[in-house]
Amino acid sequence: MTSNETIWRATVLTLFPEMFPGPLGVSLAGKALASGLWALEARDIRDSATDRHRSVDDTPAGGGPGMVLRADVLAAAIDAADAVPDCVKDRPRLLMSPRGRPLTQSRVMELAAGLGPLIVCGRFEGVDQRVIAGRALEEVSIGDYVLSGGEIAALALIDACVRLLPGVMGKLASGADESFSDGLLEYPQYTRPQEFEGQPIPEILLSGDHAKVAAWRQAEAEALTRAKRPDLWAIKVNQKRPKSTTDG
Ligand code: ADE
Repeated sequence: MTSNETIWRATVLTLFPEMFPGPLGVSLAGKALASGLWALEARDIRDSATDRHRSVDDTPAGGGPGMVLRADVLAAAIDAADAVPDCVKDRPRLLMSPRGRPLTQSRVMELAAGLGPLIVCGRFEGVDQRVIAGRALEEVSIGDYVLSGGEIAALALIDACVRLLPGVMGKLASGADESFSDGLLEYPQYTRPQEFEGQPIPEILLSGDHAKVAAWRQAEAEALTRAKRPDLWAIKVNQKRPKSTTDG
């Protein structure tokens, strides 16, 4: 087991700490958590409230619907998390928010290669802007839809990181041969039975010719990406384009 100082650790600030580890406590991530390959600390933002009612939110300045997470309470929660002995200094501080930059596999790989982020889960209408700026929070979105809070987004982000940590996937591929890691969607997979509802497994996959199989998979991955994700395909094509002398 790795020492406490070097273990990949996610610290989550939330109003619902009981949502963690949740699904991260089972399967691959759960086994790795239990065996100490990574660590998870869920901290209750409400513990940093100072008034009698332990309030964490208030009405938006300027009016409007909903409630906003208070800057003073959240800043105190972040500072308290940073003051934990042994915690990594200068780790990425993320704020899960539909307004953030969309999460990508390359950002996941960066986060997994570090010592683990601090993740703030927003609720209500949002978070006071001054704490976002004052604590340098990087806003991260997991898609263009609105969840009722950042917790499920944080679980998704942590899961994507944890499966890349050394030792977590065991004998499975390191993640190098899968969707997004090379900018393409994954090729189709097949297993037994050889024929299912009249559809056979593509013959080439049973040929035993590894080079042909690899070429077929590459072609399928490219065709799928072009058809389903023209946005990703355009990036891929651009990367392949030789740099002209007038570029940059
Ligand atoms: N919180 C609410 N919706 C979200 C989203 N789409 N991504 C990240 N955090 C969120």
